[in-house]
Amino acid sequence: MSETHIVDGEALQFRNLKYSDLGPIAALNLRAFQDSETYQWRFRGVSSAALVAIVKHFGRKAYLDPHVNCKVAYTSSHPYLGFLAYEQLPPAKLSYYEKFIKWVNSLYERFLYWWYDASAVKRRMQYNEVQYGTMLYKTGLLAQPNGFLHVHLISVNPDIQKKGVGKAILNIVHRDADKYRLPCFLVASTAGFGMYEHLGYRTIATTELRDDETGELVKLSSGMIRDAKKD
Ligand SMILES: CC(C)(COP(=O)(O)OP(=O)(O)OC[C@H]1O[C@@H](n2cnc3c(N)ncnc32)[C@H](O)[C@@H]1OP(=O)(O)O)[C@@H](O)C(=O)NCCC(=O)NCCS
Repeated sequence: MSETHIVDGEALQFRNLKYSDLGPIAALNLRAFQDSETYQWRFRGVSSAALVAIVKHFGRKAYLDPHVNCKVAYTSSHPYLGFLAYEQLPPAKLSYYEKFIKWVNSLYERFLYWWYDASAVKRRMQYNEVQYGTMLYKTGLLAQPNGFLHVHLISVNPDIQKKGVGKAILNIVHRDADKYRLPCFLVASTAGFGMYEHLGYRTIATTELRDDETGELVKLSSGMIRDAKKD
């Protein structure tokens, strides 16, 4: 049985992401990641309208991907306290319909970058994905016979951080990981690194993110792993 976590006197609850949540979740993520050096670098120079539209699109991408589990954390008086997106890799095969939806969504993404004149964001996102993908490859996790759980994103409303919500959200992933004896992988933000170490993750690989215009180091990103539970 999982323990109920209490936040400001109310029980923390979780539900699956709904389409109508995409706006409020984008707003939550933008607030939570406003100090993140990777967010500031990825979105440098774009208008606030573009920022909201692109971050909302990332949520939509996760929502429309049948492999990605998206959870919203809330209490009876706070509808949006946190967000989680994670998936089990390697993924199961997509149906033709699911592939079609992904393709339409990728066209929409191209449209967004064009509409908001955000080719620099597109370039940085692609570079970012290649760097993280290469780091994941180096970990050897992709060769795990039973796969692993990849935490894509976790965020907690800044008004309610340091009250155990992040840990309660991650416990959703850890319960699955322990049940199926799977390792967990994530790329840590600066804000999340200490919490992940505290919760048993260790750095397994690192990668540099360098600015495309100045060549300066934006961040040395850590890929972290939580080992699978032993018998
Ligand atoms: C990172 C984040 C999710 C943490 O959420 P949170 O609700 O503030 O964290 P919690 O209160 O649940 O902390 C859980 C545990 O980790 C510990 N912890 C948290 N930050 C820590 C740190 N920097 N160093 C060491 N331990 C830390 C807490 O003390 C707590 O320990 P306990 O269970 O023994 O009491 C939140 O700060 C956030 O959303 N940040 C912005 C977005 C972000 O960077 N997300 C991570 C993306 S990889």
